[in-house]
Order: sequence, then C-alpha cells, then structure tokens
Amino acid sequence: MMKFPSVVLGVFVVLVGLLTGADSGSIGQCDLSSPPPSWLTTNATGILEYAVAGQPTSGNNFCIQQTDHPNSLHELQVAYHIDLGDNTASSHAAEHHQRFSSQLDTQNGCVNNNTRIVYCFPLCLNNTLQNMVIESALKSSQPADVAQDIQRTTQLDWAITVMQVDYNDPNTHINASVFLVPDAWCSVYIGIRPKLGFDYLYEIQLGKILH
Ligand SMILES: *[C@@H]1O[C@H](CO)[C@@H](O)[C@H](O)[C@H]1NC(C)=O
Ligand SMILES: *[C@@H]1O[C@H](CO)[C@@H](O)[C@H](O)[C@H]1NC(C)=O
Ligand SMILES: *[C@@H]1O[C@H](CO)[C@@H](O)[C@H](O)[C@H]1NC(C)=O
Ligand SMILES: *[C@@H]1O[C@H](CO)[C@@H](O)[C@H](O)[C@H]1NC(C)=O
Repeated sequence: MMKFPSVVLGVFVVLVGLLTGADSGSIGQCDLSSPPPSWLTTNATGILEYAVAGQPTSGNNFCIQQTDHPNSLHELQVAYHIDLGDNTASSHAAEHHQRFSSQLDTQNGCVNNNTRIVYCFPLCLNNTLQNMVIESALKSSQPADVAQDIQRTTQLDWAITVMQVDYNDPNTHINASVFLVPDAWCSVYIGIRPKLGFDYLYEIQLGKILH
C-alpha cells in the first residue's frame, strides 16, 4: 500500500494585517514588490504536471514559472496578486490558524468524508467551496480536467491552479504562503485512491486576484 507523504507541505500562513511585503524578486511577469503587498506564492519541487483555469497567466497578477536547476530539480513557482477587498480582520485569521494546526494529525482533515480520500489537508475557510474543489478532484486524475471542472462548477473568476504532486520523489516539497480568509483564498492538498488506476495527490489552489 502506498502512503502519501503528509509532511512535504511547508505552509507559511500569512496573517492578514501583518503584510510586511517580505516577498521580493519576480515570478514570470509578476513583480512581487509591486503594491499592494498582497502577494501569495508557492514554490514547489516534485510537481509532475500542472494546469490552470479561470484566469490567464499572461498578465502581471497570476504567473507560473518553471525552472530547471542544474541538479535536475525542477522547480515550479506560482504567484497570485490577491484581491483582499476589505479583509483586515487579523484576529479572525489568527483564530483559524489554531484550528488548522489541530487538523495536521488527522488523515482527512477536510469537510468531505468520501472513503476514496486517503489524505486531505485544507487551507480553505469556505466549506462550501472546499467541498466543491474536493468533488472536482475526485472526478479525475488529470489536472487539466480538475482545473476546468472547478471553474465550471464554482463559476468563480478566480485564478485556479492544480498541481499533481509526485509522492514517490523524496525531493518533493511545497512551500506556500496563504491567507486564511474565506472570500479570497482556498487551497486543498488531497490524496485520492481511485476505484481504478494509481493513487494521485494534488495541491489545488484558488485565489481571487486583482484585475
Ligand atoms: C518563493 O520564491 C520567491 C522568490 O523567487 C520568494 O519571494 C517567495 O517568498 C517564496 N515563497 C515561499 C512561500 O517560500
Ligand atoms: C522551502 O523552504 C525551505 C526553508 O526555507 C527551503 O530550505 C527549501 O529550499 C524551500 N523549497 C522550495 C521548493 O522552495
Ligand atoms: C459522511 O458524512 C455525512 C454527514 O456528516 C454522513 O451522513 C455520512 O454517513 C458520512 N459518510 C461516511 C462514509 O462516513
Ligand atoms: C463560499 O463559496 C460558495 C461557492 O463558491 C459561495 O457561493 C459563497 O458565497 C462563499 N461564501 C463566502 C463567505 O465567501
């Protein structure tokens, strides 16, 4: 039986209200120092495949960059310039940080209890949206299908990224910054055992980006 790595996800939870503008440099055409300082980034190794939907990656607020390092590590970087609206409730965000920590030791910490879910770790405070994302993930082992299905079922104009994670690669690592706000961010790290075929593991991210 395969076991999904449950510790590869290094999550930096960024609390709203503590925006320091610490991100620097650029990812593709996204200049991480451009205001407002509401950038979220993901830097990952061990991504087999990825797909996007909802928003084009040709602008300056949603970018993806792949870099091949000399040591044969392939790094995938994603940047989202998040539209936080009037979300400044930092105490609210801190409260939810506690809740997500306690979910770390459960195998399925998500709202959907489908038995085909082997592992699930959400950073998504909107349970309705979280469940929709999971239902899409259960439907297909193809990132492109999942990304399209999320866009179709949610009808959101958010940036959507679906990354298929290699759970056999010891170099797999995902560093992501997130906002714990219900109406601008939702990510779900989910491992699924389909009725037929191989297990698959996704890091799925949805962000409401600035236009
Ligand atoms: C990802 O890398 C960029 C630089 O390329 C950096 O600014 C950012 O802080 C990194 N993000 C995380 C979550 O480590
Ligand atoms: C993730 O962050 C750790 C600690 O800062 C760093 O050592 C590692 O190289 C980062 N991994 C990626 C894929 O950016
Ligand atoms: C899943 O949760 C629902 C609602 O809480 C419950 O009715 C159902 O029996 C659960 N299914 C499984 C497989 O645990
Ligand atoms: C949660 O997500 C659902 C589905 O996208 C949406 O209809 C609802 O308005 C969202 N709730 C909040 C508080 O953002």
